[in-house]
Amino acid sequence: MRYENKVVLVTGGASGIGRAILDGMVREGARVMFTDISNEVGQSLEAELRAGGHDVRFGRADATDPDDATRIVADVVNEWGRLDVAINNVGGPGRGDTSGGPLEDLDPAAWRATFALSSESTFYGMRAQIAQMLAQGSGVIGNTASMAGVRPTLTSSVAYAAAKASVIQLTRYAALMYADRGIRVNAVAPGMTLTPAVEAHLTPEEQKAFVAGIQPMGRMLKPSEIADSFLWLCSDEASGITGITVNVDAGLSAA
Ligand SMILES: NC(=O)c1ccc[n+]([C@@H]2O[C@H](COP(=O)([O-])OP(=O)(O)OC[C@H]3O[C@@H](n4cnc5c(N)ncnc54)[C@H](O)[C@@H]3O)[C@@H](O)[C@H]2O)c1
Repeated sequence: MRYENKVVLVTGGASGIGRAILDGMVREGARVMFTDISNEVGQSLEAELRAGGHDVRFGRADATDPDDATRIVADVVNEWGRLDVAINNVGGPGRGDTSGGPLEDLDPAAWRATFALSSESTFYGMRAQIAQMLAQGSGVIGNTASMAGVRPTLTSSVAYAAAKASVIQLTRYAALMYADRGIRVNAVAPGMTLTPAVEAHLTPEEQKAFVAGIQPMGRMLKPSEIADSFLWLCSDEASGITGITVNVDAGLSAA
């Protein structure tokens, strides 16, 4: 129960990696606000978790909207009086940004959409969360990066790789800036992970072929394997760690 009495915010918590983080946090005793743009899924998940006795709230919020990011932090503080841990998990290729493909063909609107979803969302979240954490004198932030931002492969979009690299640098910058003010900031960079987003785009055969080329373990990662790293990094067990990115990549970065 590493999160007993802790107040936690998870963005994009209704599916995939965010959902696994939400599950892990409630399992370990946290009070959790999770956000998503999917109102229906968010509300039914909230009802399910509350029926199970967990202190969970859902807030419909668009992570690409700075006002939503600020409103959600205010809602958390109204509900529980503080914000101990925030996980900025929303990201992905934006509308019109398909995986891979030549840079010279990429529509600037698709680049901007990917940066809004994967980079700006993290900045807007951190901006609001850090203001609250500074007022409290403590807090922990975890950001979902991607192995595409650490070591790009030509199968990922150039905009997505660049946007996720920016998440890693945002993480390091903020870690440095607030290291002596009680705030830790780290990131987790997942390799290819079997989430609804991936299942929607790749058949099981395509998934197999994809990971065979780049993930030495020869398999997709599970959302719970990504969540477990967040649970450790954002807990007191990692109290001496700030500014790092943990690669949960099935061996990709070993080669
Ligand atoms: N799945 C992978 O292989 C993989 C690998 C590396 C990094 N990631 C990163 O992990 C994170 C989660 O991805 P996932 O695979 O779990 O995706 P997912 O689609 O399963 O879940 C994403 C959730 O975010 C919500 N969402 C989308 N846009 C939003 C917005 N603007 N505001 C609020 N919520 C929004 C969706 O409704 C969904 O519930 C992303 O940052 C992604 O880039 C995923």
